[in-house]
Amino acid sequence: MYPLVRSALFRLDPELAHRLVLHALAAVPGAVRLLAPPVSPPASLQQTVFGRRFPHPLGLAAGLDKDGIAVNGLFDCGFSFVEVGTVTPRPQPGNPRPRLFRLLEDQAIINRMGFNNAGVAQVCRNLMRRRRAGVVGVNIGKNKDTPNDQAAQDYLACLEAVFHLADYVAINVSSPNTPGLRDLQDEAVLIPLVRAVIARRDELYEASKSRVMPHRPPVLVKLAPDLDEVSVSSLARQLMAAGVDGFIATNTTVARPPLKSVHRDEPGGLSGRPLKDRSTQVIRWLYAATGGRVPIIGCGGVFTADDAYEKIRAGASLVQVYTSFIYEGPQLVRQLVHGLAQRLAADGLPSLADAVGRDTAKSRTAAPGEGPGGTSARELEKLGPLR
Ligand SMILES: Cc1cc2nc3c(=O)[nH]c(=O)nc-3n(C[C@H](O)[C@H](O)[C@H](O)COP(=O)(O)O)c2cc1C
Repeated sequence: MYPLVRSALFRLDPELAHRLVLHALAAVPGAVRLLAPPVSPPASLQQTVFGRRFPHPLGLAAGLDKDGIAVNGLFDCGFSFVEVGTVTPRPQPGNPRPRLFRLLEDQAIINRMGFNNAGVAQVCRNLMRRRRAGVVGVNIGKNKDTPNDQAAQDYLACLEAVFHLADYVAINVSSPNTPGLRDLQDEAVLIPLVRAVIARRDELYEASKSRVMPHRPPVLVKLAPDLDEVSVSSLARQLMAAGVDGFIATNTTVARPPLKSVHRDEPGGLSGRPLKDRSTQVIRWLYAATGGRVPIIGCGGVFTADDAYEKIRAGASLVQVYTSFIYEGPQLVRQLVHGLAQRLAADGLPSLADAVGRDTAKSRTAAPGEGPGGTSARELEKLGPLR
């Protein structure tokens, strides 16, 4: 049935179609079950990652539900986790329209939305209406008019506001659509910023210990696919030492591999099929550099169970989708979940955790962790077990 719905939606302006779907999911969350029956994941796909239980590894990436208005409906699509945001301290309108383009021939999207969102206070009010079980991540950013040397204040303000509502917090320093944001991926800037966020999280956690339910949301960092191996590896090691709980790899790319669509030269971030291999490469680098000590959420161009499995074998414990969800609709989650279970069984692996990093671990054995991406066994030893 989704092909019919999609052909109607794809006749509309992309942003209008997006808003219609999101508001429909918010207004009648359960209705999506007409398009996609519930997902029943086998036990082999269950994992505990950064202290949270996931019945299967498929989640929704940030940016679709920036304000957290449709979390219940998105869980009804079958996702085991939903990342809302990017949210900024103050509301902001984002970039002028048009700013969202479908590249049909390439199964891709280019967007330059620019963190349009209702502001963190409103997002918190929306998240209080959450009714479904499932992990909710909140992706945090800075306002466009906040200078980079004051960016940490914005991330801290968002963290403080969402602390009790987020099952994890993702620091977004990798969107290409906020001028200068990706400069925050510079080590000299990023490491102190992340340390400040983690320190504040720990203070809030200490304070929450007197409550019935102490809360310590893991802090993740979302990286761009346009970093090179040396930068990814070095950032990974330093962020791991700073105490980060996980990585999300990756955001959209500013690169333009050969594309067919007329929209190929639109400025902004490219997502979908053309991003797949590059984001998987970044996962490999992260996994090799951290020795699998810090969980990775793989994201970028996942359309099929093979795509998801490739990211898992490269080192991802969890996988997010965005663009394929727009193209394939809600039955995608069920297809991917069942396809993943089949691939695990075909490889004779009892659980998903056994597949994580299997391909990357092999290449590390060949070059025992000392290459540009590797970390020596002694260094890894010091960093302790998997978080
Ligand atoms: C329209 C659109 C808006 C996005 N907005 C955000 C955002 O606000 N924050 C963020 O971290 N990522 C954002 N992303 C990036 C996605 O979360 C994801 O990292 C990227 O699209 C790659 O996954 P995909 O190929 O499955 O789409 C956005 C992507 C799209 C297509």
